Amino acid sequence: MHIKRFFGGIALLVAGLTGCGVTPPAPELDGPVPADPTRIPFVAPAAVQGLTPMTVTDENSAYVLYPHFADVPAFNRALRQEVDRQLTEFRERTRGSGLRSELTVEWRLAAFSPQVIGVRLRTGEFADGGWGHSLRTLWYDRGSGQAVPSKGLVKDLPAVKRLVLDQLLRRERIGDPGSGTRPLVTDEAMDSMAFNADGDLVVEFDDCQVAACAQGRVAVTVSAEQALPLLSRTGRLAQAAALRAALRPAVPPLAQTPATPSPSSAVPRFLAAPPSRAVDCATAKCVALTFEDGPGPHTADLLDILRKEHARATFFTVGLNAAADPDIVRRIHREGHVVANHTWAHLDLTKLSSSRVTDSLSRTQDALAAATGERPTLARPPYGNAGREAEAVAERLGLALVTWDVDAGDEHERAPCEIVRKVVGEAHAGAIVRMHEIHRTTVEAVAAILKELRRKGFELVTVPELYGDAGMRAGRVYSSGPLD
Ligand code: NI
Repeated sequence: MHIKRFFGGIALLVAGLTGCGVTPPAPELDGPVPADPTRIPFVAPAAVQGLTPMTVTDENSAYVLYPHFADVPAFNRALRQEVDRQLTEFRERTRGSGLRSELTVEWRLAAFSPQVIGVRLRTGEFADGGWGHSLRTLWYDRGSGQAVPSKGLVKDLPAVKRLVLDQLLRRERIGDPGSGTRPLVTDEAMDSMAFNADGDLVVEFDDCQVAACAQGRVAVTVSAEQALPLLSRTGRLAQAAALRAALRPAVPPLAQTPATPSPSSAVPRFLAAPPSRAVDCATAKCVALTFEDGPGPHTADLLDILRKEHARATFFTVGLNAAADPDIVRRIHREGHVVANHTWAHLDLTKLSSSRVTDSLSRTQDALAAATGERPTLARPPYGNAGREAEAVAERLGLALVTWDVDAGDEHERAPCEIVRKVVGEAHAGAIVRMHEIHRTTVEAVAAILKELRRKGFELVTVPELYGDAGMRAGRVYSSGPLD
């Protein structure tokens, strides 16, 4: 009741301000342009209690991130089904092609209120030497307990499609007066809808779906006034959630946190080891366990095991996951482990432009610094693929690049005993061991790995400790300790 009254007032206000109720055509930029009416006021995931970032990987070519919420099993199932569907279709499309392809799914919270949750999945697929993107927004109505596709936000889809087509045709005239083709808006194309801060309905399309591929992201708005009579009950709740989010004081952007990026001239090229413990890896048999792709649902258990065994490790965390759960990142740091950078969304850096490599690494630096108060000095390139451009960027950002020379082979769930056998069998003085904390069986293997390695006389250290006083250099790639 409160929501309805509140929403009604805002809607009238919005209608009054926009007058004719027709929003201008949307610019094609996909970025934080303040005047862009197609910009969705995404909710900061760190503000959501009980949200766990989830990761699914496949054959070293697919990397899918999605959120898991406390207390909404039906929505969690729908999100998991959606990412499984995308993974299956990707596998079928690329099976036996022999070409290098890659799938990445990132997520944002389009809305989070006591009534509704909206999750927007952005899928990137690398094929034929370039990236293509698609968007899909899934909704959850807490009142009905149902997961709802974007189409479920409206009760009159044909009417909304007509308004959307009208907007697209206006853009067409402005952008390309010579074009006589009419964009085709199918029901399937209406699978990513949300609301902007004014309560306008924002409809986003996949690359190449309704316009020339060169246009990139295409999104249009249907004004709040026009959309209101066409919305379903869930749609009205979603609209109210966007309006309420817009009225809340903004969460300060990461760049405004105390740990602001230092100017590039001040970035250290030579990275000294942290205050060292009694262990000297020049004489002792040291092994550095590294965990990547988290934080995730098993990270807290892993930290419990490491604490119990008095062992320290290095965590290469994914920026998007870290931003969603900064508390666990803070705990990793507080318990004496090294928090390091594994890029924002786990894209293969060799397939990105230099500016996107910079963006991926520096956004993650900001998220990790906001959580721990310290800027990381280590990064691991996804799949171990760096390349000269990424090395140059890493040098500018003050990051040494760390790969591995012992791989636990645990990209998929594997029996803990197999993981123990492989790691313990291949460990040597100066080894950097790669493991994935996102798998339960990997975490289950850790206690036995620690015991076995110690029994064989190994000291367990962090990656910087492996190099001791020799230190590590920004921009250089390290795959094992100096004794190897
Ligand atoms: Ni990884």
